[in-house]
Amino acid sequence: MTAALVKTEIRGRVGLATLDRPKALNALSNEVIGELAKALREFDADEAVGAIVLTGSEKAFAAGADIAAMQPWSYADVYSQDYLGHDWESLRRIRKPIIAAVSGYALGGGCELAMLCDFIIAAENARFGQPEINLGIIPGFGGTQRLVRAIGKAKAMDMILTGRMITAAEAELAGLVSRVVPVDRLLDDALETAALIASKSLPSVMMAKECINRAFETPLDEGLLFERRNFHALFATEDQKEGMAAFLGKRSPEFKNR
Ligand code: HXC
Repeated sequence: MTAALVKTEIRGRVGLATLDRPKALNALSNEVIGELAKALREFDADEAVGAIVLTGSEKAFAAGADIAAMQPWSYADVYSQDYLGHDWESLRRIRKPIIAAVSGYALGGGCELAMLCDFIIAAENARFGQPEINLGIIPGFGGTQRLVRAIGKAKAMDMILTGRMITAAEAELAGLVSRVVPVDRLLDDALETAALIASKSLPSVMMAKECINRAFETPLDEGLLFERRNFHALFATEDQKEGMAAFLGKRSPEFKNR
């Protein structure tokens, strides 16, 4: 049996997935992505999990798609295996919140994987980049789309056309990451943040994620309507009654995720 490339564990109500292919700086081979997709789908289906943290090693979150695997591929190879379809696409469909805890390199597909998560907490040593241009290709898993939405056209063009890396500080200033923490605090901070989210009512957390993601896909009118209908729907949950009663009773809510 080959060793797992993605380690998983559940801490409290948080599912933790750790990319573990250190010799290749967590390069994202099809096997890594297959394992990751399976792990995240299992967390998504597990009632004991309320939020997910995805991380790598101190040196690399992920240094991109696996260049050694890709180098000999022809157009027919990538087309017929629908490269970046299937498992890569299925990562988008995870409904529970995912925090990317990024230390070291998040390059190419690694940066794209971090951006696919709901938000990024970066260690001070994090480096983000889309260096595909140096390999004669372009980003293939959302880099040209999500990076523009995250940091705007000027900076996205700069990064994608030059292939240069940006630091955690520049990424925070640009709005790519939600916060920057010391390297030795990264995992604890991400796990604490995920635990906080997992302590909320899961239906409201999932609906909030769905509504925010809609903002990128619909005109404002449609997005506002989608939000309002979901807001209305939450009044059908026991947790809405409990959350508001707890506030009025000056106590902590006991959510049942229903
Ligand atoms: C395969 C990789 C890899 C990658 C690193 N390695 N990145 N293998 N695919 N993306 C391997 C190296 O070959 C090397 O293996 C080992 O990891 C350590 O890497 P070094 O280069 O020796 O480390 P260092 O000098 O510290 O440099 C770190 C680095 C550099 C700056 C991150 O490795 C680098 O530039 N990597 C490539 C980054 C990149 O171009 N990413 C985009 C890929 S394309 P050996 O066996 O020699 O020890 C992409 C397309 C996305 O992501 C499309 C959608 C997914």
